[in-house]
Amino acid sequence: MTAIAAANGRPAPAGGSGRLMAAADVIAIRQRVAASIVGRERELDLVLAAVAAGRDLVLEGPPGTSKTTMLKAITAQWGIPLLFVEGNADLTPAKIVGHHNPARVLREDYSADNFVPGPLVEAMRDGGFLYIEEFNRAPEDTLNTLLTAIADRAIAVPRVGTVTAAASFRVIASMNPYDNVGTTRLSTSVHDRLCRLAIDYQDEPAERAVVALRAPDVPAGLGSRLIPDGVALTRATRTHPDVRQGSSVRGAIDTVLVAAELCALRGISDPGDTDYVETVFDAMIVALSGRIHLDEAAETTAEQVLREIFQDHFVLDPAAARPG
Ligand SMILES: Nc1ncnc2c1ncn2[C@@H]1O[C@H](COP(=O)(O)OP(=O)(O)OP(=O)(O)O)[C@@H](O)[C@H]1O
Ligand SMILES: [Mg+2]
Repeated sequence: MTAIAAANGRPAPAGGSGRLMAAADVIAIRQRVAASIVGRERELDLVLAAVAAGRDLVLEGPPGTSKTTMLKAITAQWGIPLLFVEGNADLTPAKIVGHHNPARVLREDYSADNFVPGPLVEAMRDGGFLYIEEFNRAPEDTLNTLLTAIADRAIAVPRVGTVTAAASFRVIASMNPYDNVGTTRLSTSVHDRLCRLAIDYQDEPAERAVVALRAPDVPAGLGSRLIPDGVALTRATRTHPDVRQGSSVRGAIDTVLVAAELCALRGISDPGDTDYVETVFDAMIVALSGRIHLDEAAETTAEQVLREIFQDHFVLDPAAARPG
């Protein structure tokens, strides 16, 4: 039977009885979450099923593929906290577990009272999701601390005692599969303790819908052409032969927002205007040049790559260049 246990000592989660959440409540959460997110129905089902089953999870996907958006929506609807931690070499076990306030320790000696909880202890106590971005950048001993919390649902904190996880505590990790600088290959013991969901870019219509949602003030006449252009140009950065990792939908959102401002500055209200195309190029340079990562062997620049993508889109593909 599917059941989500609610956080101990917290207000009853949305739609829940306060103790156990029945399958019907998971369905209700899914419906409310889906209303704020474009597409991703399958991913939402899989994430919800994993966390409802009491499992911890790694989300593996390039930047900008809805990982944070989905988790924010799920935890908001469930009524539990979402705590963010960025995985990097400085993320020591003490940073996630917590520390004793040094000034108070000098005055009062160590006590549970002067312990300042870190995000792991907070998430365990409050029954929140601990979201660790770039999990594979965290040091080995930090991963081991997390594995203990995952496996035992409790950790021993020196001079504080055992912290037991509330029922809705989950660890959600994220990793970028293209990221291989400064990352460690996770040991099989880490992988063996986590479910995994690979997430990729959304299809073109969904990305257009995401951009439309995030750029609501772009005038409709301009947006009807600018949004498809911004999305197509951004997607082309992902398949260019000289690019190791292209831009996410964030680049498309910014291309559209910057281009719309530029159009306003330059008095362009109609995509048929002769200056429209060059204005989109200017916006692309600002929005995308820092977001594309070239192959090490490529003898080119981000600007050059964007110029090629732009020409392919507007010049070599006459359908794209036609207004409307
Ligand atoms: N399915 C979606 N529906 C609505 N907005 C979305 C969707 N996917 C992405 N976005 C928007 O795109 C941006 C990036 O999404 P998000 O922050 O969820 O990516 P992420 O996978 O967490 O990326 P990162 O790995 O870089 O943290 C946000 O502005 C978000 O609002
Ligand atoms: Mg994120």
